[in-house]
Amino acid sequence: MRFEIVTLFPEIAASLRLGLLGKAIEAGRVEVATSNPRDFTTDRHRSVDDAPYGGGSGMVMMPGPVVEALEALDAGRAGPTRRVLLTPQGRRFDQATAERFATLPCLTLVCGRYEGFDERIRGYVDEEVSLGDFVLLGGEVAALTVVEATARLLPEVVGNRRSTEEESHTTGLLEYPQYTRPVEFRGERVPEVLLSGHHGRIAHWRRREALRRTLERRPDLLATAPLSEEDRALLRELEREGT
Ligand code: ADE
Repeated sequence: MRFEIVTLFPEIAASLRLGLLGKAIEAGRVEVATSNPRDFTTDRHRSVDDAPYGGGSGMVMMPGPVVEALEALDAGRAGPTRRVLLTPQGRRFDQATAERFATLPCLTLVCGRYEGFDERIRGYVDEEVSLGDFVLLGGEVAALTVVEATARLLPEVVGNRRSTEEESHTTGLLEYPQYTRPVEFRGERVPEVLLSGHHGRIAHWRRREALRRTLERRPDLLATAPLSEEDRALLRELEREGT
């Protein structure tokens, strides 16, 4: 898969060249390209923003440099892409969106700085995505988040999908608690069932703990998580216990 980032700070892409994603990029299994609107300015000051028509505070990203940065990326790619604008006005990014993006051959992420975009830029993107109900200085950190969440679903990045299939949000529930060595750490022992080697009991304990954790921390997720009759019985039991 290919990721393209339109940003005034292309240096941020360097942080993607670490860890598993870095390995995939190095091996040519994942591509990351950037395009800088500053390279498509026409004035002496290389301006990418200007004062808003109608007055008011702050500066607005001009459409020309951003649209030309997008068109330059089109020229360097064979197939299609999907253009996504990072903005607090977009639809909230979530795991389902990451899974949808992971099916694409290319994703182009458009980052803004300053107070906002000239409205006409919106006509050049396919959708708008927000990380949440807060305002960042710019879209860069949001773009990195989208790349990471998407790339880790790719077989080119994580060899086996099993490790992503069981985890939080993919199952619609929060993940069960995990333990590794040592068996005892500062007086706290690993739950005995996990040492039992009894796969059926372990699976049952994990499902129950995933349900308990979701009930405690994110009860809103239970409304949409796929739950079996046994899950519902376990939830009733947990609710009676008052966890
Ligand atoms: N740019 C500024 N704030 C943002 C947010 N919350 N999500 C995505 N992009 C942004």
